[in-house]
Amino acid sequence: MKILIVPTKEAAIVRAADIVAAEVAAKPDAVLGLATGGTMVPLYEELAQRHRAGNFSMAGVTSFNLDEYVGLAPDHPGSYHHYMAEALFDLTDMRKDHAHLPRGDVADPKAEALAYEARIAKAGGVDLQLLGIGQNGHIGFNEPTSSLGSRTRIKTLTDSTLRANRPYFDSDDAVPKYAITMGIASILEARTCLLLGLGEAKADAAAAMIEGPMSAMCPASALQMHPQTTVILDEAAASKLQLTDYYHHVHPGGQESEYS
Ligand code: PGA
Repeated sequence: MKILIVPTKEAAIVRAADIVAAEVAAKPDAVLGLATGGTMVPLYEELAQRHRAGNFSMAGVTSFNLDEYVGLAPDHPGSYHHYMAEALFDLTDMRKDHAHLPRGDVADPKAEALAYEARIAKAGGVDLQLLGIGQNGHIGFNEPTSSLGSRTRIKTLTDSTLRANRPYFDSDDAVPKYAITMGIASILEARTCLLLGLGEAKADAAAAMIEGPMSAMCPASALQMHPQTTVILDEAAASKLQLTDYYHHVHPGGQESEYS
């Protein structure tokens, strides 16, 4: 894992946007794996701003999001379809027919999960997978004890995730209990991964992911097995790491090392 620690959230967002923009500049028809959640909102704002400035185009990009809630139609304000349209797709030149998310409102969500895997494979797999991390160490909606060999499927969300999602819904009952999520093994097939963790609330999860044993109790720790993963943390999210001096030594200010 490449651990980049930057002083502030703002610097982390710029660093992450630089990596996404470099990927798309090098490969305009890149397949991006996209994530949702509060952490991604300022990243997408930054990318949209670069698009408006004429420095970033998604015209050739194909995207696959990590997850969607079971039971929510794309036009539901709490759905990830809706989130992605508002946060990124409508603000850039992303082609709607190239933007994929699992459909949560289908009659057979299990079949949809299988079909989603097939759609990713048909597109040639993911070049760059964006990831956030849950306070409980989840990536996508792969909650603790998810199999590290899991594929796209339906997951029951934990109480911790339901609480984290509550602000996005009108009532406790409206918070979805299930999601279709790419599995851990599916995520690990991406050619590169970029995980962004911001704020003190992510410090324990970041430490478990990077320095803990690889364990289904911290699904993000499976990224230890991935050969091309970059983790960007602000100082607060990095505050519980043990080898901080080393990470700063290798990547001063979160920049590339001499041999990157
Ligand atoms: P957050 O969620 O960005 O809203 O903190 C991240 C995640 O749960 O993966």
